[in-house]
Amino acid sequence: MRMVDIIARKRDGKELTTEEIKFFIEGYTKGTIPDYQASALAMAIYFQDMNDRERADLTMAMVNSGETIDLSAIEGIKVDKHSTGGVGDTTTLVLAPLVAALDVPVAKMSGRGLGHTGGTIDKLEAIEGFHVEITKDQFIELVNRDKVAVIGQSGNLTPADKKLYALRDVTGTVNSIPLIASSIMSKKIAAGADAIVLDVKTGAGAFMKTNEDAEALARAMVKIGNNVGRNTMAIISDMSQPLGFAIGNALEVKEAIDTLKGEGPEDLTELVLTLGSQMVVLAKKASTLEEAREMLVEVMKNGKALEKFKVFLKNQGGDASVVDSPEKLPQAKYIIEVPAKESGYVSNIVADEIGVAAMILGAGRATKEDEIDLAVGLMLRKKVGDKVEKGESLVTIYSNREDVASVMDKIYANISISSESVNPVLIHKIITE
Ligand code: URA
Ligand code: CA
Repeated sequence: MRMVDIIARKRDGKELTTEEIKFFIEGYTKGTIPDYQASALAMAIYFQDMNDRERADLTMAMVNSGETIDLSAIEGIKVDKHSTGGVGDTTTLVLAPLVAALDVPVAKMSGRGLGHTGGTIDKLEAIEGFHVEITKDQFIELVNRDKVAVIGQSGNLTPADKKLYALRDVTGTVNSIPLIASSIMSKKIAAGADAIVLDVKTGAGAFMKTNEDAEALARAMVKIGNNVGRNTMAIISDMSQPLGFAIGNALEVKEAIDTLKGEGPEDLTELVLTLGSQMVVLAKKASTLEEAREMLVEVMKNGKALEKFKVFLKNQGGDASVVDSPEKLPQAKYIIEVPAKESGYVSNIVADEIGVAAMILGAGRATKEDEIDLAVGLMLRKKVGDKVEKGESLVTIYSNREDVASVMDKIYANISISSESVNPVLIHKIITE
């Protein structure tokens, strides 16, 4: 088999065989296929697309390019949730203990990564003592006993994807549905998921900027999952404005606690119940989404979800008393309000730019070496659709620096107020296939 023939076939719109796809991924991982041939193939895929079978084959070839995590020692159906990434997305923090309270096993491998705020691990580390440096055996034991644990990323998972994603980044081939879908799905499958729930975000703060693109990606991933034996569902959720009120690590922990009590922001609560219902159904703890939702609301109301969060924190060295005394979380030195300059209705809050404002305060990392300040961030006081009077606070800034002029400018530049009210949509579509 020759790589040049594979490239030419895809260039001409032909379907690649399972063997050809394997040959490419294995050779590229080993280094016997050079970057220039891999980029040519990525570009051919970009223009000619792949059918469902090719997409499933590409995904599994990438899964098999490195180590995979074996979660078979954990009882039950392991459902993993993946979000394509947004601003102030506190869902994982809430979902993990919430579905675990219904005995859905949550065996979460999580990373730090770059972004407007830290990753799930950074957020959890805002809790004194909490750590993810546990052994694989401890991890499995905790999930079997208490249904929830988080471990730091380890092992050489999907090296083919790492290499190919970096190459796509510099060859104009990131934005291809078959390549994105296989990239995301390969990582979830290698991490041991039996079933997968996908939160595909759409809007200014999202990777996919339009509903059409987000839906195409969601459908592609659901197809791949189901074709390779992992039950998969997806939702398309809005990321034109940040999710919830809090953007920042300790602030989001507090928001997660409120939400577990059933006292969280409306949009975050709705998203968590929608995604959680899918997780509960996929784990076969309920037969319909409606039944699952009732069960989730019940554990929020009766305190079981919050209790599960405490057990989870304690198990991994965390000070669970923060749940009842959130003032023990890292606190910022300066609390500064951003008053509205006019009255009206909030019509737009540009998610990614507000995320950048939080990052300027130190809530997130621009480069891998950056240190995160867990205490800082933003609290939205108004969301899209809310009425606001001149002088009322739009946002509260939590900062450890006194000078927040540039952050304030950014906030003003990215929150619009209009005379007409608007109705924001949170869940654009639910895809269960
Ligand atoms: N996220 C991924 O993990 N892979 C892609 O290709 C795009 C976004
Ligand atoms: Ca939030």
